Amino acid sequence: MFYSDQVILEIVQLELTSRCNEQCVHCYISDGIKRHDMDSMLLWDILNQCRNIGIKQVVFSGGEPMLHPDFLNAVDRTTWDGVKIRILSNLTELNDTIIEKLKINKAHIKEIQTSLYSVDPVIHDKVTNVPGSCELTKQGIKKLTEQNIPVFITCPITTINKNSYPDVLAFAKRLGLRSGPNNMITAQSDGSGKNLQYRLDINDAVQVIQDILDNDNAYDDKRFFPGYHNLDDALPCVQNICKNSIFVNVRGEIIPQPGWNKVLGDITKKTLLDIWQNSPDVINMRKINLNDFPKCITCPDIHFCVMSLEGNANENPQGDPFVIPDYLCAYARYARILVHSYHMAKEVIV
Ligand SMILES: C[S@@+](CC[C@H](N)C(=O)[O-])C[C@H]1O[C@@H](n2cnc3c(N)ncnc32)[C@H](O)[C@@H]1O
Ligand code: SF4
Ligand code: SF4
Repeated sequence: MFYSDQVILEIVQLELTSRCNEQCVHCYISDGIKRHDMDSMLLWDILNQCRNIGIKQVVFSGGEPMLHPDFLNAVDRTTWDGVKIRILSNLTELNDTIIEKLKINKAHIKEIQTSLYSVDPVIHDKVTNVPGSCELTKQGIKKLTEQNIPVFITCPITTINKNSYPDVLAFAKRLGLRSGPNNMITAQSDGSGKNLQYRLDINDAVQVIQDILDNDNAYDDKRFFPGYHNLDDALPCVQNICKNSIFVNVRGEIIPQPGWNKVLGDITKKTLLDIWQNSPDVINMRKINLNDFPKCITCPDIHFCVMSLEGNANENPQGDPFVIPDYLCAYARYARILVHSYHMAKEVIV
């Protein structure tokens, strides 16, 4: 474990590959750049560094990480004392060999996270643009669950699957799995904003909040409860940024968040530790706080804020992470009103 100004680097997320066998309409990686695998020698070097630092969690993501030719070896090499692995995958490439590998290393597997957009193949496959993908993802979920490998199902909500998430959460519940909807699609990292055509309009996004409140026993989603954000730690979006985690893209560049083309360092030139400790860009990123967002300081909706620096940057023509899209403030305002009404109604009933 490494300490720097009381900041501990614990989590490293690796973009094993930008390649993917799906073309999800909302994906923050635009199709044009889904082409490259992380060089295996670079991958071994990064994992060695992670081992030496004593990283507690390595996240394998992509693109589709199971497409990397050395995916199995990567799992094998992430088994030092105290490390856990998370894998973000669409599970369509899951096969018996991978399941066996995950079983052997079960002690190190924290969770496999997968996205199910609908239990209805017509809708799910319309999001992924791959016929048959829904069945493969569902089968993958079931196979992992049979082996007691923990799966978390996320359901990013787009205009295509806006009515599907309750069935997805029910599907997860039947299998005894944790799950959660995500109704906040961030803009693509190429700045084109093309994927935002699939983001819910504000009325539909608000409807999701209402639905979650109406079913809050089923939806264990703390985002909608006041007091969730600790204001001493500034805005939620900056609470974690370069505080305990870092992201490495397919080229070995350090970025603050997945889907944000803001390079803070290059692992092919400097060590992970050196970048974490000394990169001026990392240090500056770590210093961002509430004072950098004057309009947020007195905002009554801050407990409900889902604004993110990468979302701001990707949505802004100049790539400015400090310019907040109006949509997000409107969303937080509605969320506060709905949640307060919900609690007031509950108090009246009690
Ligand atoms: C980029 S994918 C990579 C891993 C794998 N291919 C998968 O889909 O699970 C990681 C997660 O990000 C979600 N995601 C992709 N684009 C997004 C966006 N623009 N906004 C919010 N979530 C997004 C995906 O649905 C998936 O749950
Ligand atoms: S969300 Fe995941 S599965 Fe879908 S296109 Fe993006 S990387 Fe591929
Ligand atoms: S809702 Fe808008 S103004 Fe309020 S804290 Fe979030 S980003 Fe800032």
